[in-house]
Amino acid sequence: MRISRRAQAVSPFYAMEFGKQAAALEARGHRVVKLSIGEPDFGAPPAVLTAMREVMDGRPLTYTAALGLPALRQAIARFYGDRHGVDVDPSRVVVTAGASAALVLAAAALVDPGDEVVIGDPSYPCNRQIVESFGARVTLVPTTAETRFQLDAASVRASWTENTRGVMVATPSNPTGTSVPAEELAAICRLARERGAWRLIDEIYLDLSDHDDRGRPPRSALSYDPDAIVVNSFSKYFGMTGWRLGWCVVPDALVPAMERLAQNYFLCASAPAQHAALACFTPESLAVGEARRVEFAQRRALVLDGLDRIGLPVPVPPDGAFYVYFDVGRTGLTSWEFCERALQEAGVALTPGRDFGTHTADTHVRLSYAASTDELREGIARLGTFMAALT
Ligand SMILES: Cc1ncc(COP(=O)(O)O)c(C=O)c1O
Repeated sequence: MRISRRAQAVSPFYAMEFGKQAAALEARGHRVVKLSIGEPDFGAPPAVLTAMREVMDGRPLTYTAALGLPALRQAIARFYGDRHGVDVDPSRVVVTAGASAALVLAAAALVDPGDEVVIGDPSYPCNRQIVESFGARVTLVPTTAETRFQLDAASVRASWTENTRGVMVATPSNPTGTSVPAEELAAICRLARERGAWRLIDEIYLDLSDHDDRGRPPRSALSYDPDAIVVNSFSKYFGMTGWRLGWCVVPDALVPAMERLAQNYFLCASAPAQHAALACFTPESLAVGEARRVEFAQRRALVLDGLDRIGLPVPVPPDGAFYVYFDVGRTGLTSWEFCERALQEAGVALTPGRDFGTHTADTHVRLSYAASTDELREGIARLGTFMAALT
């Protein structure tokens, strides 16, 4: 069978590959501490589980509208008002099969062959793969600790060409858990808007970010760029990875194209998941989300302290999500070697920087602290023994 050039060009997602190796070790009776996959160990909030059971009462659960259940689109729009102080019309909300499908739909709606899309390095790998599948060329802009491993307006300006059509930012980022400061993101969006380019801001970890000194949550990019495309999901904040439900908020002009594409690509996102997800936006479930955000911050402190003690520096401490990106340069191993040996010799699954770009690919490793405190303590202890044996 002839496999398309497009499919052949897609790289594997190494986090998943290391996850598979970890599963194989476990199948052979080893106990592995899995800090490689960005999946919260808490499931959906209890009220959402109850709602799901209720929905499974034998009713037909037919397709919903391609853009999503109207009640869910309204609930999401209200959430922007309540949580982020931005007015979003429900007609601009598109409910999707995870943020992943929102990224696919947005790329399908926006990208033509030959377009250039600016993305920071390191960054979430699937974004690159998705826009390249639609024929775009990705301008991967190296970032450093000085800009929190994120794009800034100066680097976006410097990488701009006459073919640049869009900029993609995830804030907080996967793999670093670091955010673009609000003023900087506003400047990036302004620059791109003035040049007629689209801005896609992936806010999947926004609600898992630290609050400011006055206890205020970070703002959605929509508060300073109402025409940005903003992507989000039920996967992380609500702990619903396997439910495959997410959304994006798009400018009015993009809605018809998104609807046509959604009708053809997916028909709709999972109907039972959509019905149950209505219970995410109750005060009870939002309180669960907030407690988890605080819990993640505590786990982060434990991990940062542990990595510091065992000699694995974290150049920029995260301010959200559940990742730290640490530097293995001083160990004399590449990040790939470090991850392979940490898995085989210490039974700890991590993700090498190669997943996230080229610039820090060999020197940095991502650790996901979306695991229980006990697992994190065990993982750090094992890495400590591994580091001691290395030196
Ligand atoms: C930055 C970012 N965007 C999008 C996704 C996709 O999330 P999902 O499709 O589960 O909503 C992930 C998953 O890890 C991610 O880290």
